[in-house]
Amino acid sequence: MNDQLFENAFEGMSEAEAREQILGAAKAYCRKYHNQNKEYHEGDRIPYASRVYDEEEMGNLVDSALEFWLTAGRYTQQFEKDFAAYLGVKYVSLVNSGSSANLLAFMALTSPLLGERRILPGDEVITVAAGFPTTVAPVIQYGAIPVFLDVKLPNADIEVSQLEDAVSGKTKAVMIAHTLGNPFDIAAVKAFCEKHGLWLVEDNCDSLGSTYTLNGETKLTGTFGDLGTSSFYPPHHMTMGEGGAVYTDNPLLSRIVRSLRDWGRDCICPPGRDNFCGHRYDGQFGELPKGYDHKYVYSHFGYNLKATDMQAAVGVAQLKKFPEFARLRREHFTYLKEALADTEQYYMLPEAAENSDPCWFGFLITVKEGVEREKVVRYLEDHGVQTRMLFAGNLTKHPAMTDDPYLAGKWRVVKDLSTTDRIMRDSFWIGVYPGMTEQKLAYMAKMLHECLE
Ligand SMILES: Cc1ncc(COP(=O)(O)O)c(C=O)c1O
Repeated sequence: MNDQLFENAFEGMSEAEAREQILGAAKAYCRKYHNQNKEYHEGDRIPYASRVYDEEEMGNLVDSALEFWLTAGRYTQQFEKDFAAYLGVKYVSLVNSGSSANLLAFMALTSPLLGERRILPGDEVITVAAGFPTTVAPVIQYGAIPVFLDVKLPNADIEVSQLEDAVSGKTKAVMIAHTLGNPFDIAAVKAFCEKHGLWLVEDNCDSLGSTYTLNGETKLTGTFGDLGTSSFYPPHHMTMGEGGAVYTDNPLLSRIVRSLRDWGRDCICPPGRDNFCGHRYDGQFGELPKGYDHKYVYSHFGYNLKATDMQAAVGVAQLKKFPEFARLRREHFTYLKEALADTEQYYMLPEAAENSDPCWFGFLITVKEGVEREKVVRYLEDHGVQTRMLFAGNLTKHPAMTDDPYLAGKWRVVKDLSTTDRIMRDSFWIGVYPGMTEQKLAYMAKMLHECLE
């Protein structure tokens, strides 16, 4: 690159004017070279999901790059505020992935600040095996015991009739995801948690924008439990490349999440700020000398799971588009559901959970007797339609579980996982993301018919 070319590019300009010029150019670049919307031809690859963005995301990203703050900064603060307002919750902590969000949500419940209710190694956490591994990974890594319940079809949601059988003197929490955007039976799970004094963590990574009505009040999923989590990895409902969030209305849980996210520290100074609370040198903590610098007082053994301000900058722009993303996901789901209505003899199709309006992550299909999933999936993939399994299928069948002698006896199953096994064998899903077009949806439906012939 010829740097000389730009040597005098900003001659006579203020920094604000120079920045405006660069942002203008970056946006024009995005308009010209990104989102080329190539004409679709039948047989072209149809991904199950992808990023959907425009010059606003590019502009924010470059703006943040020019600032070169890099770590959490003003865009992070703005995203946390905007996202909390969207969700209708008090506290949001931006993190670097949905898996980190799950790790923090779970580890927050192990904090000594929670007294009797803290989760200790050996305590039990009710969950399901039909899903994504990092909903369960923190439980296992900490040495708590995941207790796996079966799920129901067609939605792969927790079999709530097994909840009472799962309880033991050691049960402390329920941690489960809303599968592919379709809420689990929140009424039953919440009532169960309240009855037994259990924490509820909603893994909301695949269900941002889904709503559920409980006792006449309609709210977004992720806001019914004690803690909710989101993922902003590209296929998800909105993206920052990598990113995630933990949210709660509970000020103590929020403080713990922040502490664990930010190295375990007690102090709440944002990056680059000192003495935010005005009491940096006058506290008494643990057995430290009085007045020990609060910036280096640790109330937990934590991590550093912050996202960068560049990720947050992209998120701020994505969040503005989110209502339209959500509308499109619902519309695409309805299209597929109608287009496949005559296949009920061969495919079990998803149904919106009672009292819910899902913001679908994907369209889950379970083949019925006489149809082989492998053949259907291969036909679709060979004809350009990208498919996905329901993540782990049955988590307990994976080498991480079966081939680690240390884990023997460190998890339990309540009854059997027969429907989970069926999902592992017979289910798959295709996309409904906002970048789909009617042409692509129609083609996917056509291939799902054709492969039966
Ligand atoms: C239900 C669920 N939870 C958690 C995650 C992890 O999110 P991330 O990829 O951002 O770590 C995923 C990922 O797709 C997921 O589907």
